[in-house]
Amino acid sequence: MSGGHILVIDEGTTSTRAMLFAVNGTLIASAQKPLTQHYPAPGLVEHDAAEIWEHSLSCARQMVDQADGAGQIVAIGITNQRETVVFWDRRTGEPVAPAIVWQDRRTADDCAALKRAGQESVVQAKTGLLLDPYFSGSKIGWALKNWPQLSALGEHLAVGTVESYLIYRLTGGLHISDATNASRTALMAIGPDSGQWDDDLLSLFGVPRQILPQVTDCAGEFGNTKAELFGAPIPIMGMAGDQQAATIGQACLLPGQTKATFGTGAFILTQTGMIMPRSGHKLLSTIAWQLDGQRHYALEGSVFVAGSLVQWLRDDLGLIARADETEELARSVADNGGVYLVPALSGLGAPHWRPDARGLISGLSFSAKKAHLARAALEAMAYQAHDLKSAYAADKSDWAELRIDGGMVANDWMAQDLADILNIPVERPAFIETTALGAAMLAAVGAGIYGNLSEAAVMRGQVERFEPNMDANIRKNRLSGWANAVGKVVGHAR
Ligand code: G3P
Repeated sequence: MSGGHILVIDEGTTSTRAMLFAVNGTLIASAQKPLTQHYPAPGLVEHDAAEIWEHSLSCARQMVDQADGAGQIVAIGITNQRETVVFWDRRTGEPVAPAIVWQDRRTADDCAALKRAGQESVVQAKTGLLLDPYFSGSKIGWALKNWPQLSALGEHLAVGTVESYLIYRLTGGLHISDATNASRTALMAIGPDSGQWDDDLLSLFGVPRQILPQVTDCAGEFGNTKAELFGAPIPIMGMAGDQQAATIGQACLLPGQTKATFGTGAFILTQTGMIMPRSGHKLLSTIAWQLDGQRHYALEGSVFVAGSLVQWLRDDLGLIARADETEELARSVADNGGVYLVPALSGLGAPHWRPDARGLISGLSFSAKKAHLARAALEAMAYQAHDLKSAYAADKSDWAELRIDGGMVANDWMAQDLADILNIPVERPAFIETTALGAAMLAAVGAGIYGNLSEAAVMRGQVERFEPNMDANIRKNRLSGWANAVGKVVGHAR
């Protein structure tokens, strides 16, 4: 094992971070910049890819300074919000349109039309995904049809997900995407014997192959950063979508091991080994990682709103001043007072898949206080996870325990509520930024510091356990209150 540092760029939905790790997994330093969210109309969510690049570069430069120069960094790992698509000019690297964010629902009608035409089973069989505006394919097709500046670029147009754009800018022209990110586009057949982009899927969504990147492994010698960016070139050696990176960072390396990351949304992945899982209950199959051309898979439940709900309570409703106030508020009341909050603020993901659904607060009376609303928001995390657990159980992949991470799980009340409502032990690592850690593990494997992910798992460190401890009747009543509230949302939305 050699020395040196690993630099991770973690480009999330609401902020960009860079972190500097020692090769044993210890965090040395970090920098963060919030990312502007653009909501041009209800259901539309855009980012400015130029801002993504500037923030990534600036945070990474701070880490290079902390490391005492590029020469101290053995490898870069990149992880990112998935499905979001960036459109740029190959000649300059400059974006030529807004980035369409994974939460954006503008292609809901297009996806519904493809569903009516009987295409969902084809898409699901090849990609493990469903026909939902969440995935990149329909977004790219929509942009090519509706933004004339894209076709005007001709052969100079490049399109890719966020890691692809960052690598293009960092290296000065390498156009690649790793298999985990590619598996979220609905343009790639993900089975063990399939290769790159799939012709039938490309034509279904109207996406020409030549604008897309080359699909690669998640670890290896991808290329060097341009010397002028950090004073000397640094090799990029790890790359994965953020939820897959968190799965690796939580060391879910054996089939059945499951993690839940509570970031902007909440994403639960159960590792399934080298067999592509097939869900009968609206979970997704996805590539967990690809190393030496060999794919490991996961079954995923994607919940669109988690931390963004608390952010909304804080920034838009002004109900709280700081996110961590929710813990004290939740503890300050004996129960939710009959208040339920269904956070369908950008539709509902798994297992409902209703892009047209909208949020609901039910059970309000004059006795409802701010604390009940805050508690209902936190409770919604455990309920959404419970709905997914039922889908996993129906798919014969129930969880024995759950490894949790992401900014929200610093909240002890919420961690315990998850254990209580799911009725299984919940494990929380001392270092909860598991996404960045997973990217560091991949970069360490790419650099040959560790021989494989199992060896790199020593980077994970200590964990804490929360055991279920709730009266069965209380759990039953709470879950039936939630089922009633979700039923109203799904029913009304039809
Ligand atoms: O699929 C979307 C996901 O990658 C976004 O992750 O961490 O920004 O909520 P996050």
